[in-house]
Amino acid sequence: MKKFIVANFKMNGSYTFTRDYFHHLTAECTHHVIICPPYPYFTLVAEYITVHRNAQTFPHLQLGAQNCHNSSAGAFTGEVSAPMLRDFTCTYVILGHSERRTLAQETSELVCQKAQQALQADLIPIICVGESWEEREQGKAFETIQRQLQESLPAEAANLMIAYEPVWAIGSGRTATQEDVESMHAFIRSCLKDHPYPILYGGSVNATNSQDILSYSHVDGVLIGGASLKIHDFNTILEGGKK
Ligand code: PGA
Repeated sequence: MKKFIVANFKMNGSYTFTRDYFHHLTAECTHHVIICPPYPYFTLVAEYITVHRNAQTFPHLQLGAQNCHNSSAGAFTGEVSAPMLRDFTCTYVILGHSERRTLAQETSELVCQKAQQALQADLIPIICVGESWEEREQGKAFETIQRQLQESLPAEAANLMIAYEPVWAIGSGRTATQEDVESMHAFIRSCLKDHPYPILYGGSVNATNSQDILSYSHVDGVLIGGASLKIHDFNTILEGGKK
């Protein structure tokens, strides 16, 4: 079954890194692969994506962004709107990543406004939710996720994706156990009622564990930070993992 593999470069890379990355992206993959580079490399990545798609090595390769603003235009110095992203053949946008919720104090309400903007611009929001270690320790993981889902998701959105990313698993090398992932994904699925939105897992996914995680029940894909920057590892993940 086709899954979603999302690469979140965060604020990493350079012109040379990005060019070399695509020259070495040699894996053949039938999954939906979404690359989310920093804004300055959008044009470059969009060009490489077209080349790969034309060569049929990656029929389902798409460009994604890491954020957008909650207005479509205006006096918002330093910001980028959803329609601008769409102009660059961008199809997806990550919203509410825990780094933005923490470092930029983004609330779920703001994430919901951004998601509405994204949907209006014909982008598919990838809405991140995740509990902190303290919340998990206090037995509040499910309650936290339910609240974030209720407050971050626009009502009746036709198309979006959820990424469950336990904050303590991001960039830490600690992945959630199979039981933790499957029970939380089943819970998220029940919260979504009849909406068939794909649910991705993120948090220290790498070449060794990606194949197992993608086989867990209710896991429709993965959101990968650190390991997506290592082209050898990313090729391995795309080819099925664990070489
Ligand atoms: P990580 O990051 O794979 O480096 O843990 C995941 C993310 O932040 O989306």
